[in-house]
Amino acid sequence: MDALSKIYNSVAVVTMNYNGNLNGITVAWIMRTSIDPKLLAISIGKQRYSYELLKKVNFFGINLLSINQINIAKHFGTISGRNFNKFEGIDFKMSKNKIPILNGVVAYLECEKIGDFESGDHNIFLGKVNFEEIFNNEKVLLYGEHKFWRD
Ligand SMILES: Cc1cc2nc3c(=O)[nH]c(=O)nc-3n(C[C@H](O)[C@H](O)[C@H](O)COP(=O)(O)O)c2cc1C
Repeated sequence: MDALSKIYNSVAVVTMNYNGNLNGITVAWIMRTSIDPKLLAISIGKQRYSYELLKKVNFFGINLLSINQINIAKHFGTISGRNFNKFEGIDFKMSKNKIPILNGVVAYLECEKIGDFESGDHNIFLGKVNFEEIFNNEKVLLYGEHKFWRD
């Protein structure tokens, strides 16, 4: 195990809608980058289908998963949406900007994409939070040392 895997992160599903084409990707590489304005960054592998879509969209959603949503994390984090609709059989609603909000998530933040930077084999997308809602008081799912942590 390398030392980098000792960094623990919240697990989220980043959702997007490019001309009616919906996709979601599980991410652990997410961080706050500014208090005022509220900014956050996600790092997305360049070979992901989501990378192609995030390059084109103006908004994306951050769905913070609860400790009871490991199955959702695996669903959005193991299959590619390139030839598959990951939302089939998944409960969700649409935000005002028509970005998917997954049922049962602890919180949802919607971001306007304001920056886009190369980072080796990943790409950092910088978002300005323009909407946020907390849905329940469940604990947020964590990922570190190559595994999920429920407590
Ligand atoms: C717990 C977990 C965390 C992940 N974190 C990231 C991440 O931060 N960035 C990333 O690019 N991929 C991450 N992945 C991998 C993607 O979710 C996965 O490759 C996904 O199938 C890509 O889907 P897409 O091709 O539809 O974009 C993670 C997967 C899991 C299970």
